[in-house]
Amino acid sequence: MRSAKLSLIVLLLLALIVPFAKAQDGGAGLTIGFSQIGSESAWRTAFTDAVKAEAEARGINLLFSDAQQSQENQIAAIRAWLAQGDVNAIILAPVIASGWDDVLQEAADAGVPVVIVDRNVDSDPALFVTRVSSDFVHEGRLAASWLVQATSGNCNIVELYGTVGSAAAEDRHTGFQDVLNLFPSMQITRSETGNFVRTEGKAVMESILSSEDPANICAVFAHNDDMAIGAIEAIKEAGLVPAQDILIVSVDAIPDIFVSMDAGETNATVELSPFMGGPAFDAAIAFLNGEEVPKWIPVGGGLYTSRAAYDADR
Ligand code: AHR
Repeated sequence: MRSAKLSLIVLLLLALIVPFAKAQDGGAGLTIGFSQIGSESAWRTAFTDAVKAEAEARGINLLFSDAQQSQENQIAAIRAWLAQGDVNAIILAPVIASGWDDVLQEAADAGVPVVIVDRNVDSDPALFVTRVSSDFVHEGRLAASWLVQATSGNCNIVELYGTVGSAAAEDRHTGFQDVLNLFPSMQITRSETGNFVRTEGKAVMESILSSEDPANICAVFAHNDDMAIGAIEAIKEAGLVPAQDILIVSVDAIPDIFVSMDAGETNATVELSPFMGGPAFDAAIAFLNGEEVPKWIPVGGGLYTSRAAYDADR
């Protein structure tokens, strides 16, 4: 009789303890640090808002750091969370690909899993759980493929480059160039960085339009919609018709680019989903529960030449 009672008590205790030994499915009660690059573009702001909303919906205690485009600030935020000692996991959106080895090793040594989101790092993949992201090379190929068919493979292109050293910029350029290499009459004649910022995209385009014969510019490939919108302003102020005199293709599919598209002022955009928070939290929780996590969790996105086509895919 006593052993049965004892067994019952042990079972009851296990029933109480075991669930808390595993991170709750949605992550409720976890403390997770999110190191965000900044707010350089409308897409980045939408991404931040989506992650915060996802954390709130799950009951995750999100510690948020806006690094204002500074890798130094991102590293400092991660080190502060590690020093706190009560942070269960870290989500990192790295501003550039290099320079993360030491802080990722410190997180690993502290037993705090790191999930990379959006841009990539060039560190040893053993130092982070996974990367949740789009395929930036594919985005570049999509943009170039559209431009080839829109120009019959004959076009001098201005490239508005994103942040130099960031995977988003480097890989979009790579994918775009991959396709151009197949068409001898398609070439990038000018490539300048606008750092993914609208005003900088406008300033770069103004400078190019004042130093080049606009008749020799067939198209603009902007690494994000914000720089494309800046370029559209510059093209109009130069007395030219955007999307006609100069074709425009960009990346992100932010709401403002569809305003331009509705007005006939841009031609195409490649979607970059801002909804990476859910997969990132799920990956962190799976890791904390000792489950296997793939090293890349892709988010998709297609190319759109109209708001109707974009809306039809929602
Ligand atoms: O890393 C993704 C890029 O960063 C987005 O395309 C751009 O809008 C943001 O600045």
